[in-house]
Amino acid sequence: MSQVFENRMELALPNTMSIVREPLGRVENMLVGQLQSDVPIIDEMVRCGGATGGKRFRPMLLLLAAQANGGIEDHHIMLATAVEMIHAATLVHDDIIDSAATRRHKTTINNRWGNQGAVLFGDYLFTQAFYLASLTGSAEACQVIGAATNRVCQGELQQSDAAGNFETTVDDYYQIISRKTAALCGCATQLGAFSATDSKQVNQWYEVGMKLGLAFQIIDDVLDYTGDPATCGKTLGTDLETAKPTLPILLALHGSSEALRVDWIDRLGQGNAEVEDVLVWLKETGAISESLRRGKLLVKEAVAFTDQQGPNVSAAFQEMGQFLMARSH
Ligand code: IPE
Ligand code: IPE
Ligand code: MG
Ligand code: MG
Ligand code: MG
Repeated sequence: MSQVFENRMELALPNTMSIVREPLGRVENMLVGQLQSDVPIIDEMVRCGGATGGKRFRPMLLLLAAQANGGIEDHHIMLATAVEMIHAATLVHDDIIDSAATRRHKTTINNRWGNQGAVLFGDYLFTQAFYLASLTGSAEACQVIGAATNRVCQGELQQSDAAGNFETTVDDYYQIISRKTAALCGCATQLGAFSATDSKQVNQWYEVGMKLGLAFQIIDDVLDYTGDPATCGKTLGTDLETAKPTLPILLALHGSSEALRVDWIDRLGQGNAEVEDVLVWLKETGAISESLRRGKLLVKEAVAFTDQQGPNVSAAFQEMGQFLMARSH
């Protein structure tokens, strides 16, 4: 087992992993193998965290869905690896957009190699992912991955357009995160469930991934204000710096008097708000607890469906749900 894999296990889900531990190890090996290049800078970028050290949440989703739908086969390993590569690519590009200096406990690619290097490395990851997916020979899988990646780009663009706009509605927020984050999680569970003959069952698995993805981003948006960068291993606080209308902020605006609302919109828009003050406001208005309540509800709905998918799969999702919520404390 590689050192990288060992490191990840510390962060991750011990029991949930047990039913997918062996296939996840295969994903890890394929990821490293497929990203190898005789261009030295690429190997260096991969080693420096460009594609190593994540929680592997999306491959886990894909493999668990596959496990519940006839078992894990070789093509699932390839697709789980491709999905993780796309996720890694989105993070490399996201760190440029958010001017983030740390990712997965390491210096970001943009911080070390500049934005040019990070754009190109992100492209390398995207293209390698599509190449790998095409090796499965499944046009349908390629279509699903292509459509989901397209939605991620749409969501990031929509979010970029909404920056500084605190008239953004909560519905707009859900649309943004359903694209930028949940779509790839839904893609993972959909690909895992593909072998189910019943298309209703495949759709239900897609919804499981979507709901967990939405919850994941809501919790992440809370953590951007409440989290410890040392534990999260990434730069936090960029949502405030870039004036993103995330759920905690939108709920706090709704929960404030008109005068306070106007004042906060002004301060947030001007970049005049200190994170400590924002945090007090988010807590006082109940925006943090309401965001977490919404995240928890989505997790509960997703896990409820998996309850009917056999004891091992159900236990794995229960634990994954607990893990997602525990991150926010
Ligand atoms: C981070 O995703 C980006 C979000 C969608 C919030 P992860 O938290 O899954 O990142 P890694 O892969 O574990 O680093
Ligand atoms: C998630 O948004 C990024 C993608 C889905 C690509 P964030 O910008 O909040 O992710 P982190 O917090 O940097 O991991
Ligand atoms: Mg970011
Ligand atoms: Mg971002
Ligand atoms: Mg974030």
